[in-house]
Amino acid sequence: MDRMLVLDFGGQYNQLIARRIRAMKVYAEIKAYNKITPEEIRVAGYKGIVFTGGPNSVYDEKSPHFDKAVLTLDIPILGICYGHQLLGYLAGGIITPAESGSEYGATELFVEDNPLFEGIPQRSSCFMSHTDGVKTLPEGFCAIAHTKNCSVAAMCDEKRKLYGVQFHPEVTHTEYGQALLHNFVFGICHCNPDWVMDDFIEQSIAKYQKELAGKRVLLALSGGVDSSVAAVLLHRAIGKNLTCVFIDHGLLRKNEGDMVEKTLGHALGVNMIRVNAKEQFLGALKGVVEPEEKRKIIGREFVRAFERVGDEIGQMDFLAQGTIYPDVIESGKGDSAVIKSHHNVGGLPDSMTFSGVVEPLRDLFKDEVREVGERLGIPKQLTQRQPFPGPGLAVRIVGEITEQKIALLQEADAIFREELEDAGVRPSQYFAVLTDTKSVGVMGDHRTYGYLLALRAVSTDDFMTAEWTRIPYEILERASNRITNEVRGITRVVYDITSKPPATVEFE
Ligand code: XMP
Repeated sequence: MDRMLVLDFGGQYNQLIARRIRAMKVYAEIKAYNKITPEEIRVAGYKGIVFTGGPNSVYDEKSPHFDKAVLTLDIPILGICYGHQLLGYLAGGIITPAESGSEYGATELFVEDNPLFEGIPQRSSCFMSHTDGVKTLPEGFCAIAHTKNCSVAAMCDEKRKLYGVQFHPEVTHTEYGQALLHNFVFGICHCNPDWVMDDFIEQSIAKYQKELAGKRVLLALSGGVDSSVAAVLLHRAIGKNLTCVFIDHGLLRKNEGDMVEKTLGHALGVNMIRVNAKEQFLGALKGVVEPEEKRKIIGREFVRAFERVGDEIGQMDFLAQGTIYPDVIESGKGDSAVIKSHHNVGGLPDSMTFSGVVEPLRDLFKDEVREVGERLGIPKQLTQRQPFPGPGLAVRIVGEITEQKIALLQEADAIFREELEDAGVRPSQYFAVLTDTKSVGVMGDHRTYGYLLALRAVSTDDFMTAEWTRIPYEILERASNRITNEVRGITRVVYDITSKPPATVEFE
């Protein structure tokens, strides 16, 4: 299988570059610039390298650099933004702050005849975001594109197959960005489009059939996309030797527990133990209002619930997890590798020990995980779901949690989601929150007194920051009317217009 390397210098679009290449059915891997050497790149046999953008200036002492031996590997390189400047610098060119100042946003691009621009019109629009630029080209290079303020918007040394573009081809604002990447990957690096999900599935199944033969594997099933897909994939490989434990804490969305059990357990035949632990969790949460306290209690109760199941199922050899690629890639930002911090609920009991961990999805992006899930026969209803926090509705009920409040929230939340989905509006995350404020209302001739419900919807790529979603008023109106009419106990509905930061996505 042909592979491309995305060498990460801390750019915010590094994952996007890899995803764009994978969308062309070529496997792309991201490595932080300080975690791989030219020799390792050579041995790995990558067909091409992309240097990503990054926030630095090549002349800053602390800016990320790379051994210039990479230029002699005879592997094509495409530098993007900072990567373009770094390529120019490593090859002996001069980089300076652009004379006309920073260039940011949509910019008109003029390109020359070049294999990188095959099929791209001479004039198009690109996305620029830079302060520095290539002032003097390195020896052997020539400029192959310009904009009004940037004389070297792209450069190349065709003989050595070294290319640099000052703009960002990976973002959709660059009109022919995908075509440019396509030209690099196929026309210049000569990759074969042989990264196919069906192959991935077959190869994974064959691998685990071999590696896990005769072994017992435990998977803690949250019901979310990743753990569900991991469960079905491993089930295909080892059948009944996989035991999935699904702890239903009673704080899931409306009908969710049943849906997971029906789909995975009944329809797809996954060996699943559903633990109905609502009473245990609600008992432990009784009277608790402090958010962190709630999370801690839920974590602790998960461990307890597992301990009981552990006694029943006996010793397991391996632990399977739904870890995915964005969870494991180390970013090139700064010198210390930053790994996405997880706030998953609890761990497993200390008494449970395993001789190894199995992570069948650790090479895949989320959209690829969804595709694998669908190819494995998991319905879209499950694979296309939005993220849901481990502590569930506990962090969406402000104040004390009671059964009555859970029921109110489940109903209202289901209505809001249904209205959005029916209208074809799919923010990154959208849900309802039950506040602990009560307010007066009027229905017919009667005065009512009930809860204030907040609706929340955010748009984001990574959930580290998020914007509140501009939902059309008509949808909000329909949701509000239905909720106040159909859910007795809610008298008022508000829409949260706070982004993250300063707010978090969840209320607690
Ligand atoms: P916040 O509220 O931190 O949420 O802005 C960011 C994203 O993380 C999810 N989230 C959690 N996921 N366990 C999880 O598995 C948790 O305890 C947890 N808390 C928040 C949240 O739904 C959003 O997608």
